[in-house]
Amino acid sequence: MSPSPAHAADPTPHVRDAEMADLPAVAAIYTHYVLRTTITFNTDVRTPREWQDRFRDHVVAGRHHLLVAEVAGAVAGFVETQPFRPKPAYDRSVELSVYVAPDATGAGVGGALYRTLLARLEADAAVHRAYAIVALPNQGSETFHRRHGFALRGTLTEAGHKFGRYLDVAYYERPV
Ligand SMILES: CC(C)(COP(=O)(O)OP(=O)(O)OC[C@H]1O[C@@H](n2cnc3c(N)ncnc32)[C@H](O)[C@@H]1OP(=O)(O)O)[C@@H](O)C(=O)NCCC(=O)NCCS
Repeated sequence: MSPSPAHAADPTPHVRDAEMADLPAVAAIYTHYVLRTTITFNTDVRTPREWQDRFRDHVVAGRHHLLVAEVAGAVAGFVETQPFRPKPAYDRSVELSVYVAPDATGAGVGGALYRTLLARLEADAAVHRAYAIVALPNQGSETFHRRHGFALRGTLTEAGHKFGRYLDVAYYERPV
């Protein structure tokens, strides 16, 4: 996305609901982490069609959120909620996923996204628990989640396998 003149020089992250038109920028950020890191356990890049279907099902027609943070008029990060587990008794729990563009980390983008999303979830009586599932090692994400009120509830050992190695996953939980 090309910077809009109004925000071109403003380094403050501006958080808003994503629109269909943001999906290519969101996908570009996520694809980096799929292809180059074990931070997400996805191994296949989502097609534009898959992003659109997911957005329609979860956000437009569903009760989930996709927020983007713009810095200087360009999307620098996003956070989404999705069902924690498919069975109905889990309906009041959501899983959060947050990704900041690799050249924009450590500048408050993730924090701005989480403050907005967590305030929204706290105001929603239909959501009771938020979960972040952190593939290890990811010191940055663990520190970030603790800083935003999440507590480590358990670690699964070698539950994932990507790029030829087994990976542990830490379950972080926050009341909302
Ligand atoms: C984790 C992530 C979302 C944090 O967003 P961010 O914009 O980089 O973080 P912020 O600038 O808002 O920092 C907030 C706090 O997080 C912590 N933090 C963030 N990155 C860190 C790092 N690399 N190492 C240690 N602490 C870190 C710090 O405690 C920071 O607090 P401070 O303001 O006192 O320094 C972002 O770094 C990211 O997208 N990382 C790669 C993808 C990822 O790990 N996503 C999470 C998957 S579970």
